[in-house]
Amino acid sequence: MRIVRTIAQLRKEVAGARARGSEVGMVPTMGALHDGHLSLVHAARADQGFVVMSIFVNPTQFTEAEDLEAYPRQEASDAALAEAAGVDVIFAPTAAEMYPEGFATTVHVGGSITERLEGETRGAAHFDGVATVVSKLLLACMPDRAYFGEKDAQQVLVVSRMVRDLGIPVRIVPCPTSRDEDGLARSSRNARLSEGERARALAIPRALGAAAAALASGECEAEAIREAAGRELAAEDLVAEYLAIVDPDTLDAVERVDAPALLAIAVRVGEVRLIDNAVLTP
Ligand code: PAF
Repeated sequence: MRIVRTIAQLRKEVAGARARGSEVGMVPTMGALHDGHLSLVHAARADQGFVVMSIFVNPTQFTEAEDLEAYPRQEASDAALAEAAGVDVIFAPTAAEMYPEGFATTVHVGGSITERLEGETRGAAHFDGVATVVSKLLLACMPDRAYFGEKDAQQVLVVSRMVRDLGIPVRIVPCPTSRDEDGLARSSRNARLSEGERARALAIPRALGAAAAALASGECEAEAIREAAGRELAAEDLVAEYLAIVDPDTLDAVERVDAPALLAIAVRVGEVRLIDNAVLTP
């Protein structure tokens, strides 16, 4: 496995792989790798001959400076995990490589899919940062497929729309949320939870389960399903930033779950902001 720092070096690696007849998969990350990222690598490895992982803590998508500073940076251990999982090349650019002096372009995906949920709570700048960096990463690598986790369901929706709208020739492959055995969705932020906070955070998967159980018992009213989920959070004194049942394509709120709907949750457990979601299928 090689680590490259420039777009020119990355393009050389990818051109070499293509000359050897390989298709190329890309797993964009911000590092601090955990089994969730590695599950994306395994999915890429299963269907592509050459796998690129990007590791770049993208400053433009953080709307809280503290969050950016607190984000773990651990390239050496990340590289070891990536290599063991079968990554061929890590692209770990500097900020200056990604945002050279005078950088003046923003990719903005408009409409409800960026305005709701994370867009509403973290601010519009978050998805501008994501769309801009992901378009730049995809254009640097030009993979056949790029793999994203469904824990960030809204991000998958935004990136898919951007790729479609800009005609970037890559297939976006959403991969199932990877969970610890106790149900907590894997996230680099989990490492910042104390033992007690981690135990309280289990109310999040329980809330998703309670919503699914309410639906399975015949309850179709979104408000009643939300209340069932909310009770699990309240039992641990957690207040949701949002607890929403929305149309999975538009993220508009739904009143009844008579077609698949997305239940999306954002909660602060102590200082740590966690998100999770599940598709509710009647
Ligand atoms: O999901 C992430 O880790 C980031 O948002 C991404 C897609 C790597 C862009 O910085």
